[in-house]
Amino acid sequence: MTLSERPRRLRQTPALRRLVRETRVSRDALVLPLFVREGVSIRENAPGLAGLYRYSPDRIPEAVETAMTAGINAFLLFGIPAHKDREGSEAWREDGIVQQALKTLRSRFPEVILITDVCLCEYTSHGHCGVLTEAGLVDNDQTLPLLAMTARSQAEAGADLVAPSDMMDGRVAAIRQVLDQKGLTQVGIMSYAVKYASSFYRPFRDTAGSRPAQGDRRNYQMDWHNRREASREAALDQAEGADILMVKPALAYLDVVAEVAATANRPVAAYSVSGEYAMLQAAAAAGLLDLEEAIAETAAGVFRAGADILVSYFAPEIATAIKRGDLG
Ligand code: PBG
Repeated sequence: MTLSERPRRLRQTPALRRLVRETRVSRDALVLPLFVREGVSIRENAPGLAGLYRYSPDRIPEAVETAMTAGINAFLLFGIPAHKDREGSEAWREDGIVQQALKTLRSRFPEVILITDVCLCEYTSHGHCGVLTEAGLVDNDQTLPLLAMTARSQAEAGADLVAPSDMMDGRVAAIRQVLDQKGLTQVGIMSYAVKYASSFYRPFRDTAGSRPAQGDRRNYQMDWHNRREASREAALDQAEGADILMVKPALAYLDVVAEVAATANRPVAAYSVSGEYAMLQAAAAAGLLDLEEAIAETAAGVFRAGADILVSYFAPEIATAIKRGDLG
């Protein structure tokens, strides 16, 4: 039998397969999200996210230290305040929860990359990502200065990058303007440019206490039927001054990651969200799949789609998979 093509030739040994690997993942491209809550000496389980924790600011260095041992050097901080109000004013307090964590981490670990989520949903009593009109709708333009103040206070407390996740129109420009006015020109913006109204955020909302009291986020987050709209959102954020563009979630949106990576002129990040983490954990706990292999395979998929950066709750496990030779 004479076959002209024998693709199996290159799959014969582990060494050959590694030689021709098209996607190689580096731990430098990984970001680990962390939850900081008000209080002292606290490390508690994150509801719905088996194996993850919420830390008080005095204990957040433990989380960073452990992840650094695994090879992770970039962190995305989320805050859970003690008090919420209609405007979410704890978000921009100089000694707010994220600002406290930033100051602690910045002095302890001058070399790590600290990124902060800029949004109001964890801080508002109604759980929406902006202020509400009398009619109960999120008011885009009234929200912009609050987001800009939040980003500014985080930048002043030591953030390298601020990451707006609210999906208000014009927020990247509003944030860039305030940062520049205050001389914070070196602080970058990693915008959640393409963020869908996803059912995969539920475990996060349980952990961060940010589930909307009424309604949903569909009039500000994107409709998941749409791809062309993703290019539009990415282009807008790029034009407004975003330094890194993020697509979120990752797993059900790899076509979108590929589209943005092909058309944008900025590094592209993908966020493998809480529901993706919980899904793999639950399937593995039920004996349905091998967790380590599934983590490596899904991480490879995101990079294969074209992402430059992956934000994942599995970042330390992905770093371990790289060391094992499964991804690197
Ligand atoms: C909003 C925000 C959310 C996530 C990150 N930033 C939740 C939401 O939009 O409701 C979700 C992250 C995840 O599910 O892991 N501040």
